[in-house]
Formats: sequence, structure tokens, C-alpha cells
Amino acid sequence: MNEIIRMENIHKFYENGKESLEALKGVSFTLNQGEILAIMGSSGSGKSTLLNIIGAMDSASGGEIYLNGKLEKDYGTEPKATRIRSENIGFIFQSFNLIHDFTVMENVSLPLILSGEKSSEIRKRTKEMLAMVGLSEKEKNPVTDLSGGQKQRVAIARALINNPKILLADEPTGNLDCNTACEIMELILDLKEKNGQSIILVTHDPVIAGYADRILFLQDGLIYGEYKNKAGAGNVDEILAKFRESQKNSRGEMGV
Ligand SMILES: Nc1ncnc2c1ncn2[C@@H]1O[C@H](COP(=O)(O)OP(=O)(O)OP(=O)(O)O)[C@@H](O)[C@H]1O
Ligand SMILES: [Mg+2]
Repeated sequence: MNEIIRMENIHKFYENGKESLEALKGVSFTLNQGEILAIMGSSGSGKSTLLNIIGAMDSASGGEIYLNGKLEKDYGTEPKATRIRSENIGFIFQSFNLIHDFTVMENVSLPLILSGEKSSEIRKRTKEMLAMVGLSEKEKNPVTDLSGGQKQRVAIARALINNPKILLADEPTGNLDCNTACEIMELILDLKEKNGQSIILVTHDPVIAGYADRILFLQDGLIYGEYKNKAGAGNVDEILAKFRESQKNSRGEMGV
């Protein structure tokens, strides 16, 4: 399988006055082409920090990042970070991060406007994308009119409109009820089948993690275990057992 992203020994320090907090303590893993990778871990374990570094929204304090097999120095530092994001990354968040004053269509077309596409092309691609996420009839509505699940569909359409190779999702279903959460996951899977993205998904929820091909368990800034989801549909009990085991390992109770 071809690798798309490889993280080698990633460290992240947050400096706060005299205090320094080590949020990532040497994280290494590979995301393969077309793979869905979930990252589970308790609150404060470093999941968002890691995702922001992969998404070139923040820079690592140490370690190396390879994109399509090539070492990218200064990956998360401007001006390279903007180029990496715009050419490779789509991001969705728990809180949707939509622009409230904009309509559905305006929110989805924003990345194309920013990258200077022709207006006829913007209109065509935005309409296609809205059809894919099932929101064609809402294109003129302000996003504030929408339900949580519909807002996340808008965010997915916006994240994928530039056809990024990598979709990063930080708790994408965290604000949704469980039926809507599963619908959103089915949509993400469906779009991945059509467009071939590789996906990294941060979640607390073993049901949502069960949609992934592979799950990494992050605790205290380190990976303490991995679960390969061979069956396709996730086995929630087994995922939970592995998660609990990784937490024990991170506290040194079982050795690593
Ligand atoms: N901008 C920041 N400045 C200082 N410390 C930070 C910053 N962002 C995160 N941290 C700290 O880094 C650690 C990891 O935070 P992070 O947000 O990555 O955790 P998380 O696993 O995403 O948690 P959650 O599940 O609650 O979202 C925490 O101890 C947090 O307090
Ligand atoms: Mg987080």
C-alpha cells in the first residue's frame, strides 16, 4: 500500500510563560492511500494537537513529516503550511466552523473563491458537491437555519470541494445524536469511495471508530496500541477492550 503521510517521532511543546507542556512525546505512524485511520484517546491526550500538526495548522516542535514519501521540512510553517493545506487537506470539526452570515452555497464555495476559480466553475462544482451531500434544496438558506447533521454536511462539502487527498476530522460527530452521527459517517465513507480520500478521524466514540480500517490509541502524548479492523464493521466491544488496555499501558500498569 502506498503511504500518503508518515509522521516520525513528532513532539509538541506548548510554552506558556515559564511553563512548558509536552503534548506529544514522540508519535510515529503512517497513513496509507485510501485508508481510514481513527485516533482514540481520553481528553487531553493530544488528539487535536496531532491532527492540527498533520493538517499544517500548527507546527511540530520536533520530528519529521513525509508527504507522498517526500520529507517536507517546515511542513507547518508559513508559507509552506498554506500550500500544503490548500493542495492536500480538507478539515472538519466538531463545532462545524461555518460562517453564520453566509448561505449554504456561500460556505461551500468559499475554498474555490479563495483559490481564484472562475465564477461559472465555482457555481457548477458547488452545486455538484451539494447534490453529493444531499443539500441541493437548501443552497440559498443561511446555515443558521440548518440542523446539526445538515451543518456537518455543509462542512463536509466545503472540506471536499477542492478534492483534497486527505480528510481530517476532529470529533466530526461529537455534537450529533447517534443516528445522525452514523449517517454522517456513512456519508463520509460514501464520498471516500467516490473520490478516494485518505481519512484521519479523531473520536472518543468506539462506534464511530469502528468505521475505520485501523485505530491508534493515544494517551499522554504517545501511541500505546493499535487495532486493525479486519471485519469491516467495527467490533465495538473489542475496540473498547483495546482502548482500556492502552490506558492501562500508558499508566505503566501492564508494561508497554
Ligand atoms: N494552545 C495550547 N496552549 C497550551 N496548551 C495546550 C494548547 N492546546 C492544547 N494544549 C494542551 O495540550 C494537551 C493536549 O491537548 P489536545 O487539545 O491535543 O487534547 P485532545 O486529546 O484533543 O483533548 P479533547 O478530547 O478534550 O479534545 C492538553 O494538556 C492541553 O491542555
Ligand atoms: Mg481535541
